[in-house]
Amino acid sequence: MKLWEGRFAQGTAQDADAFNECLSFDKKLYKQDIQGSLAHAFMLGECGIITKEESNLIQEGLRSVLNDIENGTLAVEGYEDIHSFVESNLVKRIGDTGKKLHTARSRNDQVATDFRLYIMDSIERVKAALVRMIEVLLQKSKDAVDYIMPGYTHLRKAQPINGGQFFNAYSEMFLRDLERLSDCKKRTSVMPLGSGALAGTSYPINREITREKLGFSRISQNSLDAVSDRDFVAEYLFDLSMISTHLSRLCEDTILYTATEFGFWEMPDAYSTGSSIMPQKKNPDISELVRGKTGRVYGHLMGILTVIKGIPLAYNKDLQEDKEGVFDAEKTVLDCLTIYANMLSAITLNTERMAVAAEEDFTCATDVADYLAKKGLPFRTAHGVTGKLVRYCLDNQTTLDKVPMTVYKDMHELFDEDILRIVKAPHSADERNSVGGSSKQMAQNGIASIEERLALLK
Ligand code: ARG
Repeated sequence: MKLWEGRFAQGTAQDADAFNECLSFDKKLYKQDIQGSLAHAFMLGECGIITKEESNLIQEGLRSVLNDIENGTLAVEGYEDIHSFVESNLVKRIGDTGKKLHTARSRNDQVATDFRLYIMDSIERVKAALVRMIEVLLQKSKDAVDYIMPGYTHLRKAQPINGGQFFNAYSEMFLRDLERLSDCKKRTSVMPLGSGALAGTSYPINREITREKLGFSRISQNSLDAVSDRDFVAEYLFDLSMISTHLSRLCEDTILYTATEFGFWEMPDAYSTGSSIMPQKKNPDISELVRGKTGRVYGHLMGILTVIKGIPLAYNKDLQEDKEGVFDAEKTVLDCLTIYANMLSAITLNTERMAVAAEEDFTCATDVADYLAKKGLPFRTAHGVTGKLVRYCLDNQTTLDKVPMTVYKDMHELFDEDILRIVKAPHSADERNSVGGSSKQMAQNGIASIEERLALLK
């Protein structure tokens, strides 16, 4: 049975039905659809558009449909979409009164309402997974805050940094994601119900009643826009894409740092995989998969942007294409955040290797230039002198802490014995005590600040 058969002399072709249907995926919205209908029926009764008795009967019927879906006795199948399914099952249960439910409503404002409610819930699920991820990163940061490691630019060793600061950097990214999701929820929390098919309704409805029942913060102000607006979908998919971007970067660092060439982190066996031909291999498949899945999340963002870019006002069926991308992106991001948090908490740090690597490759050269600059030499000149020193070390296969004092003096008269204390990685990291810098103090401040902001955003 279809909701719109009256006008047609002939039934639709089987292939047209199959192509048009969306119950196979929008059944995921059954709870929101019934929730929306409960609020609508209540409002119709309150406004005297139907009687209170009719409203109560409809609400009871809707609750029984919901119960039976949830206890598994009513299979969600056999109709064009979730709206037809719910309404038809309601009518089966309570008879003709059920046919009054759709008064002053269209599937266009109904589906937009359902999907906003769904995304508002979905945002909370992703936020919870992000919170767990940040908690794991905080633990890692606390484990690493007493150690140093090399910091990189251009994937070449640059300056020594505090180990905790590294993990804090990822917490900062995921905190921004949390903030973005809360922000997205504000714009999603606008109720389209009451916009009808496109032009509103002539019934004396009270949208404030439905808004309050459904927990929306605001009511949409233009019915044409309300039924065709999917900006919230694009925004949510962007937020999910950004989370995927941050996860993908973390994957990249994980893959590098667990490789023997770096040897900073040890991958737990439980989250590694082997090779069918090379017996020695221990592969970081989880990280590679999470990095790879970023592609499909971005794909869904591109998908919705493309769907909405050309539709004339107001509702068009193209908009049915808004759902599957969100369902898949949500599942993908939740799965990735969950497995990554589990894996990261099982990764161990090879702090000795990190400390040795932090000393290598002249990571304290900037400190030498700063030493001279602090004694009054213009920084650019100090940079040049230090460059020559590095050249000397390369030519003589030595390091900055082993260069004889006479050579230092030859390079510049401002050098004194204390330079040898400066060219040590732990000293270098700890000297960078500017706010947000790589000193242990700043990494500890970072942990405290992340914990504070996390508590506010949870
Ligand atoms: N399945 C539709 C969607 O997801 C529901 C709205 C249908 N409206 C209509 N006029 N055919 O957008």
